[in-house]
Amino acid sequence: MPAFTATAPGKIILFGEHAVVYGEPAIAVPVQALQARAVINAVLSGKSGEIQIEAPDISLAADLKDLDIDHPLRVAVTEVAGENKLDLVPACRIRITSTIPLSSGLGSSAAISSALIRALSAFLGVQMTDEEVSQAAFEVETIHHGTPSGIDNNVVTFRRPVYYQKGNPMEFLSIQTPFHILIAGSGFPGNTRKAVSTVRESWLTEPERYQKIFSEIGNITRRARELISAGDPRELGPLMDQNHSLLQDLGVSTTRLDHLVQTARNAGALGAKLSGGGLGGHLIALVDDEVEAVRENLLEEGADSVFLTAVESSPPLSQAE
Ligand code: PMV
Repeated sequence: MPAFTATAPGKIILFGEHAVVYGEPAIAVPVQALQARAVINAVLSGKSGEIQIEAPDISLAADLKDLDIDHPLRVAVTEVAGENKLDLVPACRIRITSTIPLSSGLGSSAAISSALIRALSAFLGVQMTDEEVSQAAFEVETIHHGTPSGIDNNVVTFRRPVYYQKGNPMEFLSIQTPFHILIAGSGFPGNTRKAVSTVRESWLTEPERYQKIFSEIGNITRRARELISAGDPRELGPLMDQNHSLLQDLGVSTTRLDHLVQTARNAGALGAKLSGGGLGGHLIALVDDEVEAVRENLLEEGADSVFLTAVESSPPLSQAE
């Protein structure tokens, strides 16, 4: 019997993180160089419901039933079984691998869920649409984040640049003029759950002040969409700088992220900001010809990884492989 394999990419948020949780729009794009992969093999000699799961990146090798009931991998399997009205999943071995750094603002948890859900639906011989895969991944995301906006599960499942606003139909962005982003690790893990709950506490304490920041971020994101549609990506740089400064106001940046953002700008980046939940994790810098100088300076100043990604309109890839 063949193996059932599915992948999902990493992602970066170009504009709008955190504000998106409060109903403002955000723009995210897939990072195809980073991938989560789920491979499922039937165990013909096993009994239904016997599911072995291994994820070497997190040193996990267990029977699914021995994982906590709210373990994200277990929840993902339960979601797919429940959606398809199955009491028991046929015996199988699931292997999860990922090149997306964990806790880094690059969408690792959503990508793992999305790949697992897609591979499992293929294994079960059921058709799940992208919307259904994304919705199931969203349910798993609630365990990671508490109150996810839904942007991560959408961008990694649809694998295309998205303009996302809660409650509105998803919009795929067509990138008129491709552009390049350097993605740099700050050397410290991010903590999206904590960042999201810190912002929520601040918003509850000072609603007007925080609402104003969210709507300023929303305006930046709307302007960015216009520039992307007009094929004017260089102008995104100053908007990234403004977005970073508002993320600082939200309290989700760190001294290290601020230093690296400034380093990228000084070395010639057109703009830079943290990306994702923050409190660590990654920053992104819009680059043109000065890419090597920006890369070198970031590494010299303590970035633990730097790589280039192109933002372009990507056609949807085949679903399960
Ligand atoms: O840290 P990440 O990659 O999971 O991104 C989180 C983005 C937030 O806007 C902070 C939260 C959300 O659910 O949209």
